[in-house]
Amino acid sequence: MSMRSFVFDVVLAAGAIALMFPDSTGYGVHEWAGLVFAVAVIVHVAARHEEGARLFQNGFRKRRAGKAFSFVLNAAIFVDLAVCAVSGLMVSGAVLPTFGLYAGGFFFWAPVHAFSAQLFMALALVHVVLFAPKMKAVVSKR
Ligand code: HEM
Repeated sequence: MSMRSFVFDVVLAAGAIALMFPDSTGYGVHEWAGLVFAVAVIVHVAARHEEGARLFQNGFRKRRAGKAFSFVLNAAIFVDLAVCAVSGLMVSGAVLPTFGLYAGGFFFWAPVHAFSAQLFMALALVHVVLFAPKMKAVVSKR
């Protein structure tokens, strides 16, 4: 992992924490920032796709439980974030109207959004703890 991707990941983590407190940023900012965040996570995953493929191979082909767990955790975070972003869009009061769109089902999507956001934070915390040794290695190399 390079210093540049380390800094990108720290910004990503700070963004995730800010998104958990929409009242403090205001909902307009929260919605647009949520979309930018979802794109940033896709960039993060694309930048690490080789590492992910290695985790998959080591975990499932070589049957190493720790690697398999990391792979499943990362996949779960990605799917959960997709649910969070889509449900966020479905309850959007700023982004959708900008494009002249409206979505029904607020009372279904709002709890889905709140739950997927809480789950995302919990899973992302485990992800950060698991990858902490790699991050430490980058910082101590300097
Ligand atoms: C992808 C990362 C995101 C995270 C971690 C996140 C997190 C949260 C959290 C924690 C809440 C408060 C839920 C509650 O306690 O009721 C919330 C509410 C909300 N979010 Fe997000 N959000 C994200 C993305 C988005 C996106 C992309 C949009 C829209 C484009 C959005 C729109 C909203 C709206 C409208 C609410 C208020 C819902 C209500 O009134 O119940 N969020 N979000």
